[in-house]
Amino acid sequence: MKKDDIKIEHLVPTFKDARRRTRGDVDNINFELDPKYLNLGIGKKYLIQTYGCQANEADSEVMAGILEKIGFEKTDSPETSDLIILNTCAIRENAENRIWGEIGRLSHYQKTNPDLIIGLAGCMPQEPGVVERILKKQHAVGLVFGTHNIHLLPEYIYDAYLSKERVIQVYSKEGEIIENLPKIRNHKFKAWVNIMYGCDEFCTYCIVPYTRGKERSRLPEDIIDEVKKLVSEGYQEVTLLGQNVNAYGKDFIDLEYTLGDLLFDLDKTGIPRIRFTTSHPRDLDLKTILAMKELKSVMPHLHLPVQSGSNEILRRMNRKYTKEVYMEKVNLLKEHVKGISITTDIIVGFPNETTEDFNQTLDLVKEANFEGAYTFIYSKRKGTPAATFPDDVSDEVKKERLLKLNEFINAGFKKGNERFLNEVLDVLVDGPSERDEEVLAGYTPHNKLINFKGPKSLIGQIVKVKVTKALTWSLQGKLCQDER
Ligand code: SAH
Ligand code: SF4
Ligand code: F3S
Repeated sequence: MKKDDIKIEHLVPTFKDARRRTRGDVDNINFELDPKYLNLGIGKKYLIQTYGCQANEADSEVMAGILEKIGFEKTDSPETSDLIILNTCAIRENAENRIWGEIGRLSHYQKTNPDLIIGLAGCMPQEPGVVERILKKQHAVGLVFGTHNIHLLPEYIYDAYLSKERVIQVYSKEGEIIENLPKIRNHKFKAWVNIMYGCDEFCTYCIVPYTRGKERSRLPEDIIDEVKKLVSEGYQEVTLLGQNVNAYGKDFIDLEYTLGDLLFDLDKTGIPRIRFTTSHPRDLDLKTILAMKELKSVMPHLHLPVQSGSNEILRRMNRKYTKEVYMEKVNLLKEHVKGISITTDIIVGFPNETTEDFNQTLDLVKEANFEGAYTFIYSKRKGTPAATFPDDVSDEVKKERLLKLNEFINAGFKKGNERFLNEVLDVLVDGPSERDEEVLAGYTPHNKLINFKGPKSLIGQIVKVKVTKALTWSLQGKLCQDER
């Protein structure tokens, strides 16, 4: 490709635009590849490193799909890469620090391969400060795009090669829905399926509404078609994705259709297992709970982030529910979905969290009987409301609280595993266990990890396994031979 003297305008994000929310129809755009990009990647190799949540995992599958459509080939080694994309997360400061370190490490490969393009994608570039730092200091990064414009990747790569300039294109906008995106899925039998994008909750600590735009739901028929296709390809499990899946459908203008409706419709596709994440307690409704109760395909596990057990902290977090309302929903779930397993997310050390606030969180953990949790120390995110809240809690106290909380959570984890001792469970076999090639690992309906001996030919199938031992983090079991 010849070097051209076109000048590429940088497009940088602002939080002011990212905060904007307007009502009205969301544009549904069909991805189409301009034939002029078709051979762009022939003879070139790509590597994508994914950080953060499932939304990023799913986005990386789209990036891989697009890159392979234009001729790129996947590699696992940075040495042989022509393009390395870091699909980043901005949720906490330490997630970001890792990325800066990784850019430094990868930049060494440019010494032996000056044509190597290092790209930054995902949530970090949606932060104005991050783009500023790249422009000023991080010259190794040659391509920057955000969460709203993955589908324009061929154009950006074309420009980067043609101009030999840095391409920095990050939109701050409410967002569209792009259908018909190519994907290279990471698994052959379980799949991520986006049902909505963005978040309108604006929890005061959280950066996601700024990095992902407004809540916008995919049309039911597009989701159902995607799942039907997965069924025809032999997929056993789908996980429906959104930052707040319980708000699914609220943005439809002429259509009354919720997550509960979607679950009932997806059950009819014949997909053996359906999971969904993440749920917001305020929006979790009865229809969804009934879908969990009545549909065999909908797995009896719910991840329901509570964040805190103190009403004062919940108020300052803008979570829009109290611990009483949260417990009502938990009890409703337990009443309808027999044996349900509930897991959660909790933040400790939110600005000015008192010992009493923290103790209320511990009380709630006991009362709700969580069977697992992701626990975090609050991390200040520039541009979010909580970043300006006064905070008199020392880092040391925050760390102590996290350790204490984790003791409670681990006890719940173990109890949640012990209740399945001697039971025979349906296990979707994931692959060989990480520690021992001879042992298989899989997940039970309640999302418990279980290890057992068996032939690799079972990978991707649902088999019966009898639980023989319950550890804190996993179960051990024995394959029921006659049930295979
Ligand atoms: N939409 C999902 C996921 C959000 S991010 C949800 O609402 O649950 C996943 C978790 O990260 C959150 O549940 C929260 O516990 C945590 N988190 C978000 N922002 C954080 C911050 N600034 N500091 C520490 N933890 C944070
Ligand atoms: Fe963040 Fe709250 Fe939205 Fe979850 S619901 S993504 S925590 S703003
Ligand atoms: Fe991180 Fe963005 Fe997900 S900030 S948690 S990758 S939505």
